[in-house]
Amino acid sequence: MPGIISTAPGKTILFGEHAVVYGKPAIAVPVNEKMAKAKILPNISARTESIQFIASQIELDMEYSQLEQKHPLRIAVDEVKNFLQIENYPSCKIFLETSIPISSGLGSSAAISVALINGLLNFVGYTPTPKIVSDLAFQVEIEFHGNPSGIDNTVIAYNKAIMFQKEKPVEFINPGAEFSLLIADSGIKGNTKTAVSEVRERWMADTSTFDLYFEKIGNITLQAREMIETGDIFSLGKLMNANQELLVKIGVSHSSIDNLIDTALDHGAFGAKLCGGGLGGNIIVLVNESSAPHLSDILINAGAADVIYMKLKPGESA
Ligand code: PMV
Repeated sequence: MPGIISTAPGKTILFGEHAVVYGKPAIAVPVNEKMAKAKILPNISARTESIQFIASQIELDMEYSQLEQKHPLRIAVDEVKNFLQIENYPSCKIFLETSIPISSGLGSSAAISVALINGLLNFVGYTPTPKIVSDLAFQVEIEFHGNPSGIDNTVIAYNKAIMFQKEKPVEFINPGAEFSLLIADSGIKGNTKTAVSEVRERWMADTSTFDLYFEKIGNITLQAREMIETGDIFSLGKLMNANQELLVKIGVSHSSIDNLIDTALDHGAFGAKLCGGGLGGNIIVLVNESSAPHLSDILINAGAADVIYMKLKPGESA
């Protein structure tokens, strides 16, 4: 049984986070500039089932059997065993690493799950469809996030720009032009689980207002899909700003996020919004290709901990 390497990209949500939890559509794209990786090597010396996890970035070196029942890595292995209908998984050493910053809205947990699950299946000679990997990773996401919509595991497992809506088949988006995007890290750790549960409390306290916010975000997302497909960068920027205004209203922005967004817009960005759960984490900024390096420097000077430059290109998602 040869060793294998399985990778999965980060992701960013262009439109519709939070509203997607309430059944509205959202748009997400993979961020291949950041990756999670699972390297699985056979351990022929082990007599009984031995699955050893080594993740030096978080100082983890532990046997699967020693992980608590609800540990995400354990759930991933259990999901795979269940799917393959096997009682024991072949003994192996699993090295996990990631360049995706954690708790920043870039899908680090889902990327680890996708890389691991795909790797575990590949290691035993099974080639899964993206849907199979996504569905299994969703079970792990439930443990991480409590009430996830499923957008993270879906966009990461397919590694394509998608429009996602709960209970509906995933749709792929083919951009009509090249879009330049900066993803700037506020340096404040976000917390998706907390953000999602706080939004739920507010929704329960004032359902009609929040339903209206989600409805508006859903409509913005539908318009945004059209602008991506027709390559209308100006309108797309305006829609990002409109989406951000609603994210502020539902209470998931943060002063550091607002500050970076204001800076980006003051320096010529077409649009900017937070991405992911919020309360910190990253913003996404739509820019002119020629001004991207300069704006990136400005965002760093304004306090961004890191800036990623990525392009959304035609033909990559069809
Ligand atoms: O913070 P992230 O990157 O995991 O994104 C969360 C997106 C939400 O819509 C807030 C939650 C969800 O499950 O869709």
